[in-house]
Amino acid sequence: MKAIAQDRYGPADVLRLRDVPTPRIGPDDVLVEVRAAGVDPGVWIFMTGRPYAVRAASGLRRPRVPVRGRDVAGVVAEVGANVTRFRPGDEVFGTCRSGSYAEFAAAPENRLASKPAGMTFEQAAATPISGGTALQAVRDHARVEKGQQVLITGATGGVGSFAVQLAKSYGATVTAVCGPTKADLARTLGADEVIDYTGAEIDSGGPRYDVIIDIAGCRSLALLRRAAAPKARIALVGGGHDSGGLLGGFSRQLLQAPFASMRGGRTFINAGSRERVDVFDELGRLITGGVVTPTVTRAYPLAEAPDAIRYLAEGHAAGKVVVTI
Ligand SMILES: NC(=O)c1ccc[n+]([C@@H]2O[C@H](COP(=O)([O-])OP(=O)(O)OC[C@H]3O[C@@H](n4cnc5c(N)ncnc54)[C@H](OP(=O)(O)O)[C@@H]3O)[C@@H](O)[C@H]2O)c1
Repeated sequence: MKAIAQDRYGPADVLRLRDVPTPRIGPDDVLVEVRAAGVDPGVWIFMTGRPYAVRAASGLRRPRVPVRGRDVAGVVAEVGANVTRFRPGDEVFGTCRSGSYAEFAAAPENRLASKPAGMTFEQAAATPISGGTALQAVRDHARVEKGQQVLITGATGGVGSFAVQLAKSYGATVTAVCGPTKADLARTLGADEVIDYTGAEIDSGGPRYDVIIDIAGCRSLALLRRAAAPKARIALVGGGHDSGGLLGGFSRQLLQAPFASMRGGRTFINAGSRERVDVFDELGRLITGGVVTPTVTRAYPLAEAPDAIRYLAEGHAAGKVVVTI
């Protein structure tokens, strides 16, 4: 089969469209004929092997899984002996273990949800990691409630475009932080107020937000604290573009957040997410119910997946980017 694969860590130039063996499935796996695949910063992390800590999982010297891409949407081609929820021909979405920038991908059954008929393959591919991260950040980590003042940084990117819509659906008043060209998109997503980060900082209105969902990840925790109300919950989703050292941007969530919370008052939370089928199912319901709409702004053919990753790596993507097969 055709796939976008790499033999060594590095920039998008290490990726090649080439013929690789179709993945073999185990008894608990599903082979998916891929129709669309999502692009998210995790793809860049596993492509470059930076920050270095990820290599403990992905391979010390070279990527153990050569094909890139994790979010997948497609049609079931084959199922393993223990699989009970799917049969060939079913339409599914979720995350895979073999790389989704390919004609076929292998996914564990427990990482796949049924794709609702009202969802396109592109929407479905855009949803698992970014939508799942946003849902867990808004609902489980930040615990957004009706009437709260919620600030979201990185509001118009992959995770943010879901988070703004979700926070609004919970009845919050949402302030979106984005660059100068994204204000219209932020308002389309439902933001009540918009802060253009080139003109004002998030603490310009004083300590007013009950919840901050920091997706852009490029502000100090001290600045987030100054914008937060005294008992605020501050959910740290992103680590910005720091890929250096062992932990890169993950050090904010893993090392800085617990110490920042010890001061009392505001609570800093590591808002990392897990790939959960119940979360994918919930997102499918919200999308078909019209509560949330994936904001797919760019679709690249398989051969141009490296360009999709380069675009995302510039750090100013609007909504979600997908690869179509
Ligand atoms: N499992 C997890 O924990 C998990 C999962 C997914 C993502 N993440 C992390 O979350 C972060 C964001 O992911 P993503 O998929 O949303 O990335 P993305 O699609 O690249 O979006 C990033 C957004 O940040 C905005 N931005 C850049 N500089 C900014 C600034 N100074 N202030 C406010 N916004 C700014 C950009 O918008 P402008 O054009 O307006 O600048 C862009 O839309 C990454 O660090 C990623 O690693 C974590």
